Amino acid sequence: MVKPWDKKGFKLPGGNAYHPAGFMSAVGTAAMVHHNTKGAYQNQSAMLSVMYEAGLVDFDTALQIEARWFTKVLMNPSSTAMIRSLFINKQALEKGANRPKNVSDLSVKKLGIIGAGLMGAGIAYVAARAGIEVVLLDQNQESAEKGKAYSSNILDKAIARKRSTEEKKQALLANITPTSQYSNLQGCDLVVEAVFEDMKVKADATQLAEAQLDDKAIFATNTSTLPISDLAKASKNADRFIGIHFFSPVDKMPLAEIIAHDKTSDQTISTTVAFAKKQGKTPIVVKDKAGFYVNRILAPYMNEAAMLLLDGYSIEALDKAMVKFGFPVGPMQLLDEVGIDVGSKIGPILQAELGERFAPPAAFSKLIDDGRLGKKANKGFYQYNTKSKSKKKQVDESVYSLLDLKVSNKLVSKVQVERCVYMMLNEAARCLDEGIVRNARDGDIGAIFGIGFPPFLGGPFQYICLLYTSPSPRD
Ligand code: NAI
Repeated sequence: MVKPWDKKGFKLPGGNAYHPAGFMSAVGTAAMVHHNTKGAYQNQSAMLSVMYEAGLVDFDTALQIEARWFTKVLMNPSSTAMIRSLFINKQALEKGANRPKNVSDLSVKKLGIIGAGLMGAGIAYVAARAGIEVVLLDQNQESAEKGKAYSSNILDKAIARKRSTEEKKQALLANITPTSQYSNLQGCDLVVEAVFEDMKVKADATQLAEAQLDDKAIFATNTSTLPISDLAKASKNADRFIGIHFFSPVDKMPLAEIIAHDKTSDQTISTTVAFAKKQGKTPIVVKDKAGFYVNRILAPYMNEAAMLLLDGYSIEALDKAMVKFGFPVGPMQLLDEVGIDVGSKIGPILQAELGERFAPPAAFSKLIDDGRLGKKANKGFYQYNTKSKSKKKQVDESVYSLLDLKVSNKLVSKVQVERCVYMMLNEAARCLDEGIVRNARDGDIGAIFGIGFPPFLGGPFQYICLLYTSPSPRD
């Protein structure tokens, strides 16, 4: 069959890059792609080059051009890193590479969630979406209903964008029963607690729930910092006690960090890994030590960025440099999102167990005393609720005087970026050494899916290899 481009007089639809219409789209697309990728994803710019160059020549030459660009992308070390992490390793984990062998897992049909706040409400949504019956419990009925409304809001937005329907919304919401009564947890195969980060509150919730559960049910904690083995002391079944660390926002973040303590049984690990997978999460199983894996490698990186700020580098320059490196947001914006107080609470816990490199910068206590807790307080490193129509976040310059800083417009160069990133790489290597992560594969996936470590570098471990063996993947 003769293809349209083999017919005499064939013209490229829309014209090539020098045609008035083609020119507009060529320039616009190049700008948009560069804005979104910061030049890090070779395949995207290669596709644009193919479109530009191939549009100027005959079809056979165009095919040669395409083949050459394809080979260039394929031979780039970044392609190998991405294929290994995002395809081979991700699939292996989703197929249960971390599930203990020779144990059957119990299927979770009914899930209890204690605490219907930010995390509990998010977990309820992803579980109900996976067809699991959910009991969502909070201190009173009103808070539990508010937790359920979180799912309703997500679905309303999806309906507005034509990505869901009213029927699907109602079906999902029917899976969530909000309550304040622990007796409603009867029959649950798994209960996840997401109450306040407080040992006593969590211990009480564990005991109240376990009084309602049968002797096969598993109890999981969503703590972000407290040792699982300490929390397990409140449980009458330490072998069926485990940590599942979801990330915020739960409906968007693809990772679940599963933390087994010394007494957690293989069947509990296996069931929890299968449960996380059913919710669409990629699970990694990590050891029970302060910060687990993801927060542990994040903290020294954030601290180093904070030190650069205190050395007089500007908030904007620091964030821009790290985004250019490939992170989805810069460290200062991330602190605003997570909560400046949260960082300061986690720091001393990690410092006590792991050493001085985790000590949060003392000067940051001034931010907390000022009520500058980040986005949730509408007051942080950036301005919130401003009347400015600009989409670009504006730095709240008053932070500099609060911290007694003289900030110049010093450029954050490769050296400063490496100071931060290498802190993360070193910590990841320590985690592997201590058996916190079982292998480099899990460490790479954990960092990409939990923190947004630049995917084109394949994760911290592959990046370490790239640094030793290849030219920069951007070259
Ligand atoms: P939150 O403050 O938004 O929600 C906590 C909820 O627990 C509230 O609705 C509260 O009413 C309820 N609650 C407290 N005591 C209760 C009890 N005895 N019985 C029933 N409900 C009770 O907190 P958030 O952010 O959802 O965090 C919950 C847990 O998840 C904490 O352990 C936190 O460290 C952890 N976590 C938080 C992340 C985050 O980004 N916010 C990320 C990962 C873990």
